[in-house]
Amino acid sequence: MNQDELKQMAAAAAIEYLDYDMVLGVGTGSTANCFIDLLAEKKHMLEATVASSEATAERLRSHNIPVVELNQTNGLSLYVDGADESDEHLNLIKGGGGALTREKIIAGASEKFVCIADQSKLVKVLGAFPLPVEVIPMAQSHVGRVLAKMGGKPKLRDGFVTDNGNIIIDVVGLDLTDPKGFEHRINNIAGVVTVGLFSERPADVLLLASEDGIQKLTR
Ligand code: A5P
Repeated sequence: MNQDELKQMAAAAAIEYLDYDMVLGVGTGSTANCFIDLLAEKKHMLEATVASSEATAERLRSHNIPVVELNQTNGLSLYVDGADESDEHLNLIKGGGGALTREKIIAGASEKFVCIADQSKLVKVLGAFPLPVEVIPMAQSHVGRVLAKMGGKPKLRDGFVTDNGNIIIDVVGLDLTDPKGFEHRINNIAGVVTVGLFSERPADVLLLASEDGIQKLTR
């Protein structure tokens, strides 16, 4: 089975979590795209969706799935999205696709967060994947210097502008054994919009696809 088939399998497993008349948060990335394409068959079940990126909103609309703004809702019952890494406590690194801020907002506004991924995303300790940090452009050098002092190697994501008009700095080399502590510390740097650590609001369910089928991890 190749990675695309595993992503497809994880996406299909998340369809089970849909319920009638729900307002659903939808994530960003290749695994989330598999989910969106499957959602096309189930759109009659949904009241609406809220998208975590412009790309996701466009894909949902291409299937005639209704998309509304988060402010038009009273919160979401379910959020389905991928991740770049997860540990066994369902702390995540997200933002490989640059949508981390809207993803974190939607995760926070959702009763249940179901994360879908292939087995390769499960790690013992987060941090092999470069940690994305969304930053206000004028704070680029300042944030870079603070991240370096914390022990990281910051690198500007070249030519990338987020849906919110900001830049992304990807950081390697940080010791993320305390993900919640790091989430707070990095979020507190002036100029940081969001760090791609999802530990304050981790996933509730992780559906991991492998050759052996779906493994379900919960908190
Ligand atoms: C988007 O900003 C990310 O958080 C994605 O959820 C993450 O990068 C996973 O993407 P893939 O499903 O493409 O691996």
